[in-house]
Amino acid sequence: MFARNASRAFVAPSASRLFSSSSARQTKVTVLGAGGGIGQPLSLLLKTDPLVSNLSLYDIRGAQGVAADVSHVDTASEVNGYPMENLDEALDGTKVVVIPAGVPRKPGMTRDDLFNTNASIVRDLAAAVARVAPTANILVISNPVNSTVPIVAATLDKAGVFDPARLFGVTTLDVVRASRFLSAITGASPADCNVPVVGGHSGPTIVPLLSQVPQGKSLQGESYDKLVHRIQFGGDEVVKAKDGAGSATLSMAYAGAKFTNSLLRGLAGEKGVVTPTFVKSPLFADKGIDFFSSLVELGVNGVEKIHPLGPLSASEEKLLEACLPELKKNIEKGKAFVA
Ligand code: NAD
Ligand code: LMR
Repeated sequence: MFARNASRAFVAPSASRLFSSSSARQTKVTVLGAGGGIGQPLSLLLKTDPLVSNLSLYDIRGAQGVAADVSHVDTASEVNGYPMENLDEALDGTKVVVIPAGVPRKPGMTRDDLFNTNASIVRDLAAAVARVAPTANILVISNPVNSTVPIVAATLDKAGVFDPARLFGVTTLDVVRASRFLSAITGASPADCNVPVVGGHSGPTIVPLLSQVPQGKSLQGESYDKLVHRIQFGGDEVVKAKDGAGSATLSMAYAGAKFTNSLLRGLAGEKGVVTPTFVKSPLFADKGIDFFSSLVELGVNGVEKIHPLGPLSASEEKLLEACLPELKKNIEKGKAFVA
């Protein structure tokens, strides 16, 4: 471990030693961008996750304050906050790195409009992870996810440490939205509306497979089209409503914590943890698309199994057709940035 410099890094007293060793599975999780709109509530939710033993909060501004605040929550994990110059210390020994660092959209912008700012932020953070925690699992939230994930992959590859089983684009918010929106129109519980959402994370690259859940199967015509549009453009709804103050933060923090928990359960050996995530994937590699979100089984090594898409309706075939060229363009843009 690094020596801790109390004048530069906030270090909360350890509560984990108060708990029995059986409850203290030692999993350090680091949030890069912890001071932001997503980072703050995400850090709070991760503090409540019993699978996190050590929470490391980093940002170029504000992480120490967030850490001091979150550290008072009465769960066992230890919380440390790190300022800009202490990135290596924040990453030291971490098993999971969650990255919500970067700028969000304003009304009128696409996610791709964030590329110029966020690409270098994500690349530089990935380079630090490659150097300090080369075997960590990396969860990318920063947009445009369709490009930032290939950027992280190429950066790790350049450093000689890329393990495709340990890199995830977080598309859980699309899954959460699909579940909630479908439940709202059918009256079913969201828990019974687990819609696999595949493809990528922007507009037409978001492909909900409603035909694969009983509650979504019978939807057609205008109600089907409206629901698909709402799932694909749910992010725009929030950007518009926030009117210049950013994009989804609270629902994203929820989704980010949910995906992190799924991964931690898989890493801890739980079987049957299956959820959509954007990973290096063979599904459309023959079309030159080597990253794709589909149902993925998570396990002790990260990605255990990438599931095929399963049967698609005619409408879903069309959605997929629209997704692939756009996704390919986004992935290539990310790769070209690092090359
Ligand atoms: P925000 O501006 O509120 O917070 C971003 C934080 O990143 C800030 O605290 C900033 O200081 C920090 N930051 C910037 N550069 C950094 C660096 N080099 N190292 C560490 N921290 C750095 O933005 P937000 O609302 O939290 O959104 C963050 C990102 O998440 C955006 O790109 C947004 O588009 C994306 N997002 C993705 C999803 C998704 O589903 N994957 C959902 C919502 C938002
Ligand atoms: C979302 O889906 O809410 C995020 O990707 C943020 C955005 O820019 O819409």
